[in-house]
Amino acid sequence: MRLPASFNLSPLASAAAVVTLLAAPAHAFYLPGSAPHDYSYNDNVDVYVNTLTPMLNATLRSLISHDYYDDRLHFCQPDGGPVKQAESLGSIVFGDRILSSPFEAHMLKNESCVTVCRSTVPAVDAKFINNLIREDYGLNFIIDGLPSSEMKVDSKSGETFLDASGFSLGDASDVDHPMLNNHYDIWIQYHKRNDQQSRVVGVMVYPKSIDSAVEGDNTPNCYVRDKHLYLSETEDTQFWYTYSVFFIESEVPWGLRWDHYLHVFDPRIHWFSLINSLVIVGFLLFMVSMVLIRTVSKDIHRYNAIDLAEDVQEDYGWKLVHGEVFRSPERPMLLSVATGTGAHLICMCIVTLIFALFGFLSPSSRGSLTTVLLICWTLFACAGGYVSARVFASLGGEDWKPNIVLTAVCFPTIVFSIVGLLNLFLVTASASGAVPFGTILAILLLWFLMSVPLSVGGYFYGMKHGGFSQPVRVNQIPRQIPPVQWYLKPVAAAILGGILPFGAAFVELYFVLSSLFGNRAYYAFGFLFLTFAVVVLTTATVTVLFVYFILCSEEYRWHWRAFLVGGGSAFWVFVYGIWYYASRLQFTGVTSTVLYFGYLFLFAILDFLVGGAIGYVASYFAIRRLYASIRVD
Ligand SMILES: *[C@@H]1O[C@H](CO)[C@@H](O)[C@H](O)[C@H]1NC(C)=O
Ligand SMILES: *[C@@H]1O[C@H](CO)[C@@H](O)[C@H](O)[C@H]1NC(C)=O
Repeated sequence: MRLPASFNLSPLASAAAVVTLLAAPAHAFYLPGSAPHDYSYNDNVDVYVNTLTPMLNATLRSLISHDYYDDRLHFCQPDGGPVKQAESLGSIVFGDRILSSPFEAHMLKNESCVTVCRSTVPAVDAKFINNLIREDYGLNFIIDGLPSSEMKVDSKSGETFLDASGFSLGDASDVDHPMLNNHYDIWIQYHKRNDQQSRVVGVMVYPKSIDSAVEGDNTPNCYVRDKHLYLSETEDTQFWYTYSVFFIESEVPWGLRWDHYLHVFDPRIHWFSLINSLVIVGFLLFMVSMVLIRTVSKDIHRYNAIDLAEDVQEDYGWKLVHGEVFRSPERPMLLSVATGTGAHLICMCIVTLIFALFGFLSPSSRGSLTTVLLICWTLFACAGGYVSARVFASLGGEDWKPNIVLTAVCFPTIVFSIVGLLNLFLVTASASGAVPFGTILAILLLWFLMSVPLSVGGYFYGMKHGGFSQPVRVNQIPRQIPPVQWYLKPVAAAILGGILPFGAAFVELYFVLSSLFGNRAYYAFGFLFLTFAVVVLTTATVTVLFVYFILCSEEYRWHWRAFLVGGGSAFWVFVYGIWYYASRLQFTGVTSTVLYFGYLFLFAILDFLVGGAIGYVASYFAIRRLYASIRVD
């Protein structure tokens, strides 16, 4: 079964299609763009253009993408103006704007030096374009669903692969005199199915800068050598845009055409990352077995062995606070909302990763990762409501009405506010990465028509189950809390506790950041999934350990501390982001910097909520088990 065609049409239609999608069984996932197209001789092969994006070449100089038909760029337009192509919701959110182009290719017909148009760039816009060249901007063509790419050789493994992050707008080796590429050699690899029909299996574009204008002649000459095109920043520059098309036979069958793109850079680094994570987990498991198994079982044994009549030996350690551990913490409302939101996000991540792992997020359907993330975010609102309700009830919260509302709207509102502000910033920078109004409306509809009702439904279901029973009673009068060591104070504990989960993930995080900001697709989902599993395990264990130490020092206000320690890795993620910014990125504009830190902040919040929820839930069940096993008079 295929997704309904409307899925691909407009943001609003995709919102509607999501509803249809729910009815479709998950195994029948077949996203648009993945069906093969057979071309006969001379059939039109459409060439589409996408936004201009900065390329990640040693460093990244900008985060802003620009529309191909931006007035300042003066690219040639097709007759009758460019036509917008259908895109999925995720594709638009991720910044794709795919339009028709004046380039024409006909199956199996080689053509060289075809004129597109004569373009005139005024001095003001030349400055703009030259700056884009200096910032390593790349053009993105899309032919038969394949991104234009350059054939590259992995310097480490020696394998050839296709780098799909575009081809350069120009060459700024000489920073003072950047050259503009005004000629494109388009190489289309085809695979013959039979005598008549062929399929496209690879697209490469090699741009050139050629001063092809011939004086007194009305046609360009693309064969000029060593004369490059420079845009003057003091007067108008007139020049030709030209292209050539070559069809090359390829042995690669259609079904394997993406394999060249799915190049995992140096898999050894991913393995190194994984082994690093496993060592950390091994270390932790050792620690836990030491502390929990030996100490705790000894504790339990001793507590239970004391003859009650003697009462010589006083209680000590965590047993002392048995009458306090289940005392309701400050702000139970906020804690339950945060834990519910964390659970919501965890479900979203796990299901998306599973989809990716099984290859459902094929790169041939652009933006499918973002689309699936959005769908999962909408659907798992019910998990958020359920968890929030049960946590709130367990904490003895009674005022459930505001809790329902906060669970459903609090976190999305924060995310929308941040993204909205960033969007506003992009609009003022007149870049096309800004999400269009229709798409925003579609997402709002998804939120209010599906996510909110699901969250409320989940909440009521959770309320029916009520809170968890508590193995020990809470004392009437709270105990005095002795001062604790510095490393058990909330902030210090969070920063310390975050080191290990972060340490287990930071190598993989580097790749995720590079692909996220470098406009390069990320394919190592197997590694990512394992890393995620390790991080969840590490977070849970570290938090339980910290909570144990906290209780041993007779500090019984563990609820928020558990959440903070669990979410502590967010601090390191943010620090890491700052390091990445300082060492790997060289933004020339303020807008890119603001965008970067905006998204980094958002990412850190997500990490905090996910880690916090894991830490809190793990500690809660550990404590319940711990105190259920002792004898309290
Ligand atoms: C990438 O950077 C290297 C050196 O920093 C430079 O030689 C090369 O031309 C650049 N490539 C592109 C496509 O800009
Ligand atoms: C097109 O040109 C390329 C490169 O010169 C050549 O290898 C190929 O055979 C040509 N294809 C056709 C159909 O003429």
